[in-house]
Amino acid sequence: TPDLPLAGRHVVVTAGGTREALDPVRFITNRSSGKMGYALAQVAREMGATVTLISATTHLPVPTGVTIVPVDSASSLLTAVRTAFDDADILVMAAAVSDYRPTELATQKIKKPAGHGDLMLQLTETPDILKTLAAEKKHQYVVGFAAETQDLLANANRKLTHKKLDLLVANDVSQPGVGFNGDTNQVTLLRPHQQPVTTELASKTAIAKIILETAIADGALN
Ligand code: C5P
Repeated sequence: TPDLPLAGRHVVVTAGGTREALDPVRFITNRSSGKMGYALAQVAREMGATVTLISATTHLPVPTGVTIVPVDSASSLLTAVRTAFDDADILVMAAAVSDYRPTELATQKIKKPAGHGDLMLQLTETPDILKTLAAEKKHQYVVGFAAETQDLLANANRKLTHKKLDLLVANDVSQPGVGFNGDTNQVTLLRPHQQPVTTELASKTAIAKIILETAIADGALN
């Protein structure tokens, strides 16, 4: 129905910044608040979908009627997305996934080195969840995000192609009111073989609606 265009459909959304543990008390993370992903989950639910929200730690309330799957590191996020993916119609990877994790997880709290010199930290690349899953997609419509501080279109286009996405949502996080933490966003939507479309600066809820409507118009449910 036009009111509930996602009725009977399953939308999987990831949100928030992953945490990569160094030791029992410390981790590496990023500035993601989870707000864009939570707005997507809420709007997908309001459009009638069954929604699975796979969320790294955030301070946000869970939208009503949405199934939450709490995760922590990139590795736990991958496991959760894999589990939900088979049955999904649309996957939206709004999570800010750490590209690296500490190579070793110390079992005890790391101490200052003797003499208080520099401490070296070795990092290992995490799996690219989006690329892994998009490579295995069947009927699923796969949406990725790209937060950029320079060369927005060039970088975003490369990610769209390289990760084999159906839709890439790019935002220039160096602009005021755009991207991390705030309640507003302005994005450029990129699809294969189509002209990019840039939205106005708007609430994350309004942007979420545009993203889902674009996916539907693009044949995500066909
Ligand atoms: O390449 P970049 O990290 O900018 O790509 C961002 C997109 O890829 C986001 O949709 C993010 O959720 C996803 N991603 C991922 N696994 C990673 C890194 C990013 O799924 N290890």
